[in-house]
Amino acid sequence: MEEQKKILCVGLVCLDIINVVDKYPEEDTDSRLAFRLMLIQANINTDCRCLSQRWQRGGNASNSCTVLSLLGAPCAFMGSLSAGPVADFVLEDFQKSCIDVSLVSEHAQCVLPASVVISNISTGSRTILHMNRNLPDVTAEDFSKVNLSQFRWIHWEGRNADEQVKMIQQVEMHNSRLPQQQRITVSVEIEKIREPLYQLFPHGDVVFVSKDVARHFGFQSAEAALRGFYPRVRQGAVLICAWAEKGASALGPDGFFHSDAFPPPSLVDTLGAGDTFNAAVIYTLSHGGTVQEALTFGCRVAGAKCGFHGYDGIAEKFSNK
Ligand code: ADP
Ligand code: FRU
Repeated sequence: MEEQKKILCVGLVCLDIINVVDKYPEEDTDSRLAFRLMLIQANINTDCRCLSQRWQRGGNASNSCTVLSLLGAPCAFMGSLSAGPVADFVLEDFQKSCIDVSLVSEHAQCVLPASVVISNISTGSRTILHMNRNLPDVTAEDFSKVNLSQFRWIHWEGRNADEQVKMIQQVEMHNSRLPQQQRITVSVEIEKIREPLYQLFPHGDVVFVSKDVARHFGFQSAEAALRGFYPRVRQGAVLICAWAEKGASALGPDGFFHSDAFPPPSLVDTLGAGDTFNAAVIYTLSHGGTVQEALTFGCRVAGAKCGFHGYDGIAEKFSNK
């Protein structure tokens, strides 16, 4: 019965408009393919080529759901959505990925956040221009209507942290009435450099902190960041820090752990590597794996993901369905 319980991810869904280029564009140049061919014929040096453009459902919590589902874990997304054709695209894509969207709240008057992404296949780099005009995040009041007994794990992408702390307190209250093995595990992600997010440190059983936040605090490695931030997490929690091609490390009650990265044969698309890593770690821990197994699987899946566009290739390589 416990096996059937879902993993819930709370956070952002947005539209990613992904432009795949072979070289990062220079400012004030035109990378239209036909235009570029004309310049080549005229022997004029050209900048980058835009090789393809695609729409993809994005947002950290939404991407982590995609990966959880591809790995074979029943999961649900909780976040806000607008109305209209872009929201329809996103909803259909959630459904295609078998992600439960019954906790999505619609804001008909709002615009769905969007990111314009430049994805460079020569380096694998992704440059994100993100805009959220007016879509509000879900609140503690919205969360209070959720039937928590359907979940075994709830993950929060750090956003409206004041509200998110209240949501986590509701889970703590729910847990306090249950025996240990039926309790919901809480994870939080502190990815963005924003002061209010740091209040989330003491609220997760598992806490993901990004290298951007680590660097902002002056830490030059995952291990330094973990040791520096560890006093902020609550007793017994596991703190995890991923560091791109350096892999990922964790510090918890059983000590320090590390996994090297698993670089793909060719680095193609790093968009969502962190969200993929988080999902694979949550997948492993929620199935009873150790912290070391979770880090290694997280790096394996995220590394493989960097070798192809999007996320679909994950199912072929790692699915446990
Ligand atoms: P984000 O996407 O949040 O910036 P990171 O860059 O820290 O996340 O990457 C998360 C994980 O993805 C890393 O721990 C690593 O396993 C994998 N990864 C990211 N970039 C690379 C890379 N260049 N080579 C191999 N693995 C990578
Ligand atoms: C990747 C991502 C993208 C989205 C952006 C939002 O981690 O979730 O899908 O556009 O970050 O910050």
